Amino acid sequence: MTLVHNWHLGRRMEYPYFESRPKKQFAAIFNINRCIACQTCTMACKSAWTYNKGQEYMWWNNVETKPYGGYPQSWDVKTLKLIDNGENTWYTDEKDEKLSPYGVYEGDTIFEASAKKNLNQWAVGYIPEDKEWRAPNFGEDVAKSNNKPDEYSSLPEHSRWFFYIQRLCNHCTYPGCLAACPRKAIYKRKEDGIVLIDQKRCRGYRKCVEQCPYKKPMYRGLTRVSEKCIACYPRIEGKDPLTKGRPMETRCMSACVGQIRLQGFLDDNPKNPVTWLIRHHKVALPLYPQFGTEPNIYYIPPRWAPRSYLRQMFGPGVDEAVEKFMVPSRELLAVMSLFRMTQTIVFEYKIEEGPKVFETVIHGKKFEMFNDTVIGFGEDGQEIVRTTVEEPLYIRDPKHYNSI
Ligand code: SF4
Ligand code: SF4
Ligand code: SF4
Ligand code: F3S
Repeated sequence: MTLVHNWHLGRRMEYPYFESRPKKQFAAIFNINRCIACQTCTMACKSAWTYNKGQEYMWWNNVETKPYGGYPQSWDVKTLKLIDNGENTWYTDEKDEKLSPYGVYEGDTIFEASAKKNLNQWAVGYIPEDKEWRAPNFGEDVAKSNNKPDEYSSLPEHSRWFFYIQRLCNHCTYPGCLAACPRKAIYKRKEDGIVLIDQKRCRGYRKCVEQCPYKKPMYRGLTRVSEKCIACYPRIEGKDPLTKGRPMETRCMSACVGQIRLQGFLDDNPKNPVTWLIRHHKVALPLYPQFGTEPNIYYIPPRWAPRSYLRQMFGPGVDEAVEKFMVPSRELLAVMSLFRMTQTIVFEYKIEEGPKVFETVIHGKKFEMFNDTVIGFGEDGQEIVRTTVEEPLYIRDPKHYNSI
């Protein structure tokens, strides 16, 4: 074991390999508030990568309903139990913007829990039973009711609630799957941090299935090797002719009907929209940071779900993130306008100021909307997209009025 820094946890932790971060890390942001669970993302992945024999149960991208849904069933509750040492708390009195932006996690990660229990494996985990994989959308749209159903919790929280969570491999900075594999068949690419299973090296040991806390490697009985999300790497490498050599968003990201997804790279540029939303504005948060793998898919939490539930899922940054999302700043509104405006990956943004078009009060706070223009630039610095905060209005030509 070596000691590595995990900024989600605000501290160092034990991991079998040295800390090694790519210059730019594959990352994405999902705005849970907007997802309609249409599963277009799910089918976009399925039809590209997992339509063959032996892959029937593989949903590398899935969208499940919380709190009751999960694929495989109860994956998160089961893993949370494995790391529970009775004191899985966060110390939030002192924070450091770079090293511990959410505070310090005082509980055990999947790696530390295993060491404490002398399990003789790198991380705690379990292999789901076949029956847990059989219903990909178990619990869909089932609402949870708070104890006092007649009373609304204080708005924006609702007394009856559920929300959708979009899941794929997190291409973690400290992957549990990679740590677990005795064959060293899993590797993390230096150029973009994508985590891949080498299909030739894999011998089907399934330690990755066991020790990925998000349950995203999946075993294929027909070939006797495991497979997982490959981050659509040919698109990321700019091999798709559509973007003329520029890095392109993955299938599940670019297909999103609800326009809830923005994919890109986490880097050191504060004007990279992904980096700004995650590291600077802190409106997008990691899923179960306490697992300790430093996942790289981030979520804008749903404003109507109980905060206590959200805190155990996204960590102590929830309150700040929800407040910021509910009454968005001028910059946040502009950056969020970039979601799903282009398939080409945006590396930097610029905002040109426009006039004030609206103002109101939201939950006691003044909100002003400006019709700013946001411009996105590609990896080569060329402009690839330009849009405004106010959606453009198109008026149909009178000659087409009754054309349908
Ligand atoms: Fe590995 Fe799981 Fe992290 Fe993906 S989510 S990199 S499969 S540990
Ligand atoms: Fe599937 Fe590509 Fe999305 Fe991964 S990034 S879940 S491979 S569509
Ligand atoms: Fe949600 Fe977008 Fe997937 Fe539809 S395509 S389920 S809106 S993430
Ligand atoms: Fe390793 Fe998982 Fe294959 S543990 S050998 S990558 S099934």
